Amino acid sequence: MGANFKFRIPDAAQRGAAMVDVIGAGALQSLIFNGKQATTEDHMIRVKKIAHAVYEMPDVDKQSEYYTEVIGLAPTDKSKDAVYLASTIDHHSVVLRKGSQAKCVRLGFQIGPDDDLGAFEKQIQGHGIKTQRRKDPEPTIADMVTFEDPKGTVMEVFKRDAFSGQRFATKGIVPHKLGHVAFFVTDVKRVTKFYCDVLGFRESDWMGDFFSFLRCGPDHHTINLMQIDANRHFHTAFELRDWAHLQTACDFLSLNGYKLIWGPGRHGIGHNLFAYHRAPNGLITELFAELDQVNEELGYFEPRPWHRDHPQKPKVWPKDPSAANLWGIMPPDEMMK
Ligand SMILES: [Fe+2]
Repeated sequence: MGANFKFRIPDAAQRGAAMVDVIGAGALQSLIFNGKQATTEDHMIRVKKIAHAVYEMPDVDKQSEYYTEVIGLAPTDKSKDAVYLASTIDHHSVVLRKGSQAKCVRLGFQIGPDDDLGAFEKQIQGHGIKTQRRKDPEPTIADMVTFEDPKGTVMEVFKRDAFSGQRFATKGIVPHKLGHVAFFVTDVKRVTKFYCDVLGFRESDWMGDFFSFLRCGPDHHTINLMQIDANRHFHTAFELRDWAHLQTACDFLSLNGYKLIWGPGRHGIGHNLFAYHRAPNGLITELFAELDQVNEELGYFEPRPWHRDHPQKPKVWPKDPSAANLWGIMPPDEMMK
């Protein structure tokens, strides 16, 4: 590990990373990935994509202006207690509500058109988890099952019956979609197990034993979880077209007074191009492109020239600077605030 590698790693993680050194990454990988690959559990109803994220914050108007004018989401609805913003065919990708502090409080996940929501609810209850069934809870969502993950974030799982059909916005950065939401957690193994066993996520990669990257579709990760001493939001990421779009986005952020706090660079894990900045509500936004895409049946990520493994398969990465940024610049302390 380089001396300038600045992620603050808790003691437990350091012990885990040392374990990788002792028993070998391959051995730890077989422990962690045991039973989690695609061939088992086919009876399970898995969530198919992240649909939206719901945030609370003191100043909803300011954050709403940032999402519409700078990020380039389309405002689709506004009620007395919520603002709905969309990036794609979905009615909302981001929901903003007033609250005493900025945090991500809910995540929406979509199941497939042939999946049965009632059977999914029974599946959740089978894990001893209390669920609620909500009819017409949000615009364009007729039926929803809600329950809490182990850190208290509410899961909103539903079938998408209605598409609202709005176009991409015509001003701002205009991402393709909400890509992933990352959290700090106090018990990464427990929360990772929840997302895999209850919601049907798969483990794409680990950094040591303290940072997991989980997928629910072709994207390398939709949820990532880093162990520290608190449960809170880490960053919310939006997918851009490519490197040129990221360049345009960084210039546009600068013109609007937003400075990057890390990047641009290329992550090792997931291999996405990235640039991070802080939104008006204080929470970190990542803009990314070229995230690894999995071929689920073959068990590896689509080959890319920047890969070091051939093929690139899910694995435990050592706690090494290249796992964070192949281009070399390490995250500043600001990233952990
Ligand atoms: Fe990210």
